Amino acid sequence: MTAISWTDDILIHVDIIDNQHKKLLELLNDLYDAMNRGEDKEALVPTIAAMADYTFYHFMTEEKLFERFEYPEAVSHKKEHRYFAKQVTEFQNRFDRGETVLSEDILLFLKSWINNHVKKSDQKLGPFLNTRS
Ligand SMILES: [Fe+2]
Ligand SMILES: [Fe+2]
Repeated sequence: MTAISWTDDILIHVDIIDNQHKKLLELLNDLYDAMNRGEDKEALVPTIAAMADYTFYHFMTEEKLFERFEYPEAVSHKKEHRYFAKQVTEFQNRFDRGETVLSEDILLFLKSWINNHVKKSDQKLGPFLNTRS
């Protein structure tokens, strides 16, 4: 079962970012599904790693754009990225320590990232980048 389905109101209308958001949503949904299927640790390790790596890669992509176009809200936006990146690292650490990461935790993370970040801070970035590039 998909935790959150893609809907077009998530679009910020910058292709490179929208495509990465789609991919990240897919990876988080995959992880959520794998956890709900009760897959064992060995099976989950690469799924968590793929989600984490892609999250960091995505944040880096946006932050490079901030620098290139001197985005005025870069500082607060980056701060939000650090917050979500910390949570992702925390998932990985807990998992490595053998603690169970619950599918509900992933679901909460996913909802918070979409609703509090993508639909707010990333959404503001769209029109800015579209006037610059
Ligand atoms: Fe983003
Ligand atoms: Fe962002």
